[in-house]
Amino acid sequence: MKLFLCALSLLSTYSRVLGRPHNPILPGFHPDPSCIFVSEWDSTFFCASSSFNAFPGIPIHASQDLQTWRLIGNALSRPEQLPNLTNAVGGTSGIWAPTLRYHNNEFFILTTLVFDKMPIDDPARWDNIILRTKNPYTVNAWSDPVHFPFVGYDTSPFWSEDGTVYVQGAHPWQVSPHIDQMQLDLDTGEATKQVPIWNGTGGLAPEGPHVHFKDGYYYLIIAEGGTGLNHMVTAARSRNINGPFTPAPNNPLLTNANTSSYCGQSRSPHVQGRETVLTNMTWNKDEWPVFENVSGTIGGPTLPLRPSIRGNGPYTTAPDHLTFPPNSPLPIHLTHWRLPTTSAYAISPPGYPDTLRLLPSLLNLTGFDANSAETGQTFVGRRQVHSEFVFSVDFVGGYVPGEEEEEAGGDGNHHIDFGIVCLKDSKNKDNKPSGPAPQSSQQSCASSTFLRIRTTSTTATTPRPDTLVSLPSSSNPSTTHPQTTTRLEIRADNLTHYVFSYARFSSSGGMRIAGYGLTEDVSWGFTGTLLGVYATGNGRNASTPVYVSRWRYEGVRQVTSR
Ligand SMILES: *[C@@H]1O[C@H](CO)[C@@H](O)[C@H](O)[C@H]1NC(C)=O
Ligand SMILES: *[C@@H]1O[C@H](CO)[C@@H](O)[C@H](O)[C@H]1NC(C)=O
Ligand SMILES: *[C@@H]1O[C@H](CO)[C@@H](O)[C@H](O)[C@H]1NC(C)=O
Ligand SMILES: *[C@@H]1O[C@H](CO)[C@@H](O)[C@H](O)[C@H]1NC(C)=O
Ligand SMILES: *[C@@H]1O[C@H](CO)[C@@H](O)[C@H](O)[C@H]1NC(C)=O
Ligand SMILES: *[C@@H]1O[C@H](CO)[C@@H](O)[C@H](O)[C@H]1NC(C)=O
Ligand SMILES: *[C@@H]1O[C@H](CO)[C@@H](O)[C@H](O)[C@H]1NC(C)=O
Ligand SMILES: *[C@@H]1O[C@H](CO)[C@@H](O)[C@H](O)[C@H]1NC(C)=O
Repeated sequence: MKLFLCALSLLSTYSRVLGRPHNPILPGFHPDPSCIFVSEWDSTFFCASSSFNAFPGIPIHASQDLQTWRLIGNALSRPEQLPNLTNAVGGTSGIWAPTLRYHNNEFFILTTLVFDKMPIDDPARWDNIILRTKNPYTVNAWSDPVHFPFVGYDTSPFWSEDGTVYVQGAHPWQVSPHIDQMQLDLDTGEATKQVPIWNGTGGLAPEGPHVHFKDGYYYLIIAEGGTGLNHMVTAARSRNINGPFTPAPNNPLLTNANTSSYCGQSRSPHVQGRETVLTNMTWNKDEWPVFENVSGTIGGPTLPLRPSIRGNGPYTTAPDHLTFPPNSPLPIHLTHWRLPTTSAYAISPPGYPDTLRLLPSLLNLTGFDANSAETGQTFVGRRQVHSEFVFSVDFVGGYVPGEEEEEAGGDGNHHIDFGIVCLKDSKNKDNKPSGPAPQSSQQSCASSTFLRIRTTSTTATTPRPDTLVSLPSSSNPSTTHPQTTTRLEIRADNLTHYVFSYARFSSSGGMRIAGYGLTEDVSWGFTGTLLGVYATGNGRNASTPVYVSRWRYEGVRQVTSR
């Protein structure tokens, strides 16, 4: 089901209360979780979450104590699995709400690639797919998709006792808000006609359905109210999988609407986006499930600590100390926006050991108009998983090309760029590309290199002027100082601001503040915040490589309620 962290009435430093799991269990951009417990795999919990336009997509996390969570892979790890991700126009498009299940020694994911800018009544808006694996810990574990017809999203499989697979899903609510069901062949994608089974209780957008069979009842548990502050969990049940379904007498069974609890009070901005939280629930025989309200500390029985999980990805709140050593792959928690142009990235290329080389893309992070689906933005980032953190990288190699930047932000419509830019005359300072790309023009750039902080946001309430900081000329790179390194840092010391700082190692002194950005400008949509690096010609074909090293992320504080 979809739960959404939002509210923080009591601020306290994140700390693990001994033996008690704490929310959020998957902090940062981990929306629409679907979690299972698999006794056959060493009694492990697995969760999948939505990834929208991020690639690799559909992160899979594992835990054996509900406290220690590790990224073990991504169900979408190869661009060939889903080339149509390239066509997912708009920042709310892409992969929505996977359902993760285990059946007959196999893991399954059903999910929807949504083309959110297509007409709402166009069936091609929804590309529903099945992915499967027998071992989620292996590299490229998950199959190519089998596509199946379902007009709508949030598809979820249920295996009946005779082996028939029933799929529930959300019908496009703008057309007709209800939950549909059909039978599906998971091998071929052949399906029966979809038929309505429940309208929900009248809340906005009945969606995220899952069926559970218990005590002779088929329980249909869904989300209503949207993914924001009015989000709620409602349920209905039937003796027959085809209905009719009788609503629970006390719906909603769980909500943050109209409360001041963990998720109820508006925390604006929603800095870390939609996160995964856990709560305890009691479900007595023949009765409806009773959920504890979501809070910072999770109640219910606890499990013995098992802090070591197999797998290669990082634990959820672990720091990054990345050095990009020769022959290493890109760590699996690093993320592109849409499908990457793989040639734009190289780890430890000749002459530059322990660096990640980026080749600039013509497109910047806005793309041409922020709402197209152009791919090939040279960008790699990681999720912001703490309210307060420090993220920094070194740009090495000594030459400042046209553009060489660091980034905090969300989709094409919402990002804050902190860049090293070459602005050769004042006209260029409002960033109109003019003249040829500044390749092979090191000398002219050396005297016109600036740090620029630039906010792109459709939700900014007033214009956000660019901040320009001239880099001290004594430390400007030139061919005579080939190893000049610039460190750029993004930090958050509170929920409202990002602080952008820099240091040049050819000059003395520590980090200096270049300027600020507002978290509210990138707190929009269904996703969360990524922190990373990019290289772009801002509409020009630039070719100067950028070498990144010493990538650090350290969490400082998680702001949450008790
Ligand atoms: C998805 O890809 C297929 C095959 O390339 C193509 O026919 C179809 O139009 C694509 N769908 C969208 C929505 O782009
Ligand atoms: C669900 O709503 C539709 C109209 O939107 C109505 O025709 C149908 O009777 C409703 N079903 C139930 C079970 O209330
Ligand atoms: C929250 O309050 C509003 C206004 O009183 C009401 O319409 C809505 O049904 C309430 N939502 C829930 C989930 O109780
Ligand atoms: C959750 O909060 C609501 C509203 O504050 C309250 O009515 C309900 O009893 C609480 N549920 C539990 C299990 O404590
Ligand atoms: C959740 O756990 C706490 C104990 O930690 C317990 O008091 C409470 O009744 C539980 N709530 C539900 C709904 O099971
Ligand atoms: C948050 O941090 C920013 C940047 O350091 C600072 O200007 C602002 O005053 C801080 N806000 C609060 C409430 O401390
Ligand atoms: C992105 O590039 C376009 C040209 O393609 C340019 O007009 C725009 O100003 C750039 N945006 C940013 C934020 O640099
Ligand atoms: C960039 O290079 C491509 C391929 O060589 C070319 O088609 C395109 O016109 C160039 N664009 C610009 C803005 O120079």
